[in-house]
Amino acid sequence: MKIISIISQKGGVGKTTLAINLAAAAQQKGGGVIIADTDPQQSTYRWYVGRKDQTPLPYVASVFADALPEFLDKARANQADYVFIDTSPNSTEESLAIADHSDLIVVPCGPSFVDLRALKRTENILRIAKKPALAVLNLCPSYGTEADQAAQALKTLGLDVCKQRIANRASARRAYALHQSILEFEPTGKAALEFTAVFKALDKIKVADAGTPAVKGARHVQ
Ligand SMILES: Nc1ncnc2c1ncn2[C@@H]1O[C@H](COP(=O)(O)OP(=O)(O)OP(=O)(O)O)[C@@H](O)[C@H]1O
Ligand SMILES: [Mg+2]
Repeated sequence: MKIISIISQKGGVGKTTLAINLAAAAQQKGGGVIIADTDPQQSTYRWYVGRKDQTPLPYVASVFADALPEFLDKARANQADYVFIDTSPNSTEESLAIADHSDLIVVPCGPSFVDLRALKRTENILRIAKKPALAVLNLCPSYGTEADQAAQALKTLGLDVCKQRIANRASARRAYALHQSILEFEPTGKAALEFTAVFKALDKIKVADAGTPAVKGARHVQ
């Protein structure tokens, strides 16, 4: 079972959007996929609850962060293949505990100076957690060099950056409002292809690498 948490202490960068759509991409591959929503805002859980007449996949559970270990034990006993964890932007302590239980951390980041500057707190979590991590640039404009510059800035911070970026697309917002994943809303659209490609990149990362510092020099931080 692969445990992938989506962590950023910056609000509105796409944690919930990535949790839902990466889980949907994992679901498409086959196997058991669960999302644990640990954010008190409950955006992912509400998305799931609104899916009355649709196939209830992926399954979303509302989980208090301090109950996560027991929840993961249950997921493992039920032979889940992937657990995605949506997190709150507001609790460093909780995010750190969640990171500790994860095999892999996804860090969504917008390609703006404001988002990059706000990465400091998230970077600290990665440094302490010492888990493999992949930054994913989200909400990218379809033109200009902002995303290239952001990728370079993330690399300078010592983060691995996913080659596949996710563009700012109205379809991503509409799909959430309709309680659908982007793969249901527009299965052959560009957004679906982008989320699927990001999932494939994540899936290639060996979880046996757990313990590799996400940020250069992380092992030396006490
Ligand atoms: N690629 C995208 N294209 C268009 N809109 C997007 C994209 N990603 C996210 N959004 C929109 O941006 C807003 C914030 O996204 P989301 O809720 O996923 O962020 P978040 O990091 O989970 O926020 P919070 O920190 O408040 O939990 C939402 O309205 C969402 O629909
Ligand atoms: Mg959210």
